[in-house]
Amino acid sequence: MSQTRIALFPGSFDPITEGHLDLIRRAARLFDRVVVTVLINPAKQSLFTVDERVDLIRESCAGIDSPGHIEVDAFGGLLVEYAQRVGAVAIVRGLRSSTDFEYEQPMIAMNAHLAPGIDTVCLLASAQHAHISSRLVKEVASLGGSVTGMVPRAVEARLMARVRKG
Ligand code: PNS
Repeated sequence: MSQTRIALFPGSFDPITEGHLDLIRRAARLFDRVVVTVLINPAKQSLFTVDERVDLIRESCAGIDSPGHIEVDAFGGLLVEYAQRVGAVAIVRGLRSSTDFEYEQPMIAMNAHLAPGIDTVCLLASAQHAHISSRLVKEVASLGGSVTGMVPRAVEARLMARVRKG
């Protein structure tokens, strides 16, 4: 009997970008189920609330046609505990550059120490998304620049409205 292969795709997603969406699409081809999960971190200032970010991810993923089932939710606390709770065999993270690698490496090692049965699978960002980050997208939007093509359509209008409000 074959086992359902579940992957967790965690992040802040403030907000979800086209880069994230590409990784979700690709992960959904590799795994039976992908659980996209927003980190609940009250200590970190965010533009969108956790519920808003979950909704934006759900709307953005609605058009994805893939064999792997995609779910969206939120978590607080230790990532590996959450991964164990949902029965994930892997944590998926995206790498755009060597800077991302430096950032990810200690987290990957720590998670491997805490939960040796769960591997982190790093997907290299597609070339057209390598410059896109939630932080830069918010900066561009807040300075009046266009973010078309960098964030899903569902996000663009909400992001522009939010930064205009200040
Ligand atoms: O999108 P981000 O902000 O780069 O995502 C970071 C995230 C959510 C993957 C990371 O902050 C995380 O895993 N937080 C959970 C806390 C945790 O488990 N820490 C100990 C192991 S590193």
